[in-house]
Amino acid sequence: MQLVDYFKIIQKYFPVDSIAYSIYVPHVVLVTAKALEIARRLGLSEEQMRFIEEAGMLHDVGICRVNNPKLSCFGELPYICHIVEGKKILEAEGLLKHARVAESHTGVGIFKSDILVNKFLIPLKDYIPETLEEKIISWADIFFKKTPPKLWREQTMEEAREEIGQYGEDRLRIFDEWRDLFGE
Ligand SMILES: [Fe+2]
Repeated sequence: MQLVDYFKIIQKYFPVDSIAYSIYVPHVVLVTAKALEIARRLGLSEEQMRFIEEAGMLHDVGICRVNNPKLSCFGELPYICHIVEGKKILEAEGLLKHARVAESHTGVGIFKSDILVNKFLIPLKDYIPETLEEKIISWADIFFKKTPPKLWREQTMEEAREEIGQYGEDRLRIFDEWRDLFGE
């Protein structure tokens, strides 16, 4: 199994003395720890666990290129672009499977209709987690925010469900399906 030095990659895009780094690392650690706990409970293999560790730690790397002062990210792009930029960064690192996680990890997925309705500046297609590992990381990510006042607090199941519910009944169905698979 080829191990990825994910801290080396994170530090390439977030200087260790930056505020963005001090937000990025706790966020991805919390998401990764939750995802690994689910993976362990479901009896995933060592290889799957290692992948979840690496991809969880790298899933939001694209935020380095967006403009979001709350995250101390001062790139040029709108926030939603972090999924496409994350994919590009990880593909350039030769990590195609990890790149898929960066691209598909938002909520229960971003659909073509969301892109059209919100006029998102990303290529028109569905960005949906497909593999079990992708779904576990997306699920774990729903429970954690990156903005500092909420950075360390895991959302409750009710809060997370309510948030996803804002995007429609079809999203709630996916949320409930994942809750049955991954919830405690
Ligand atoms: Fe995230």
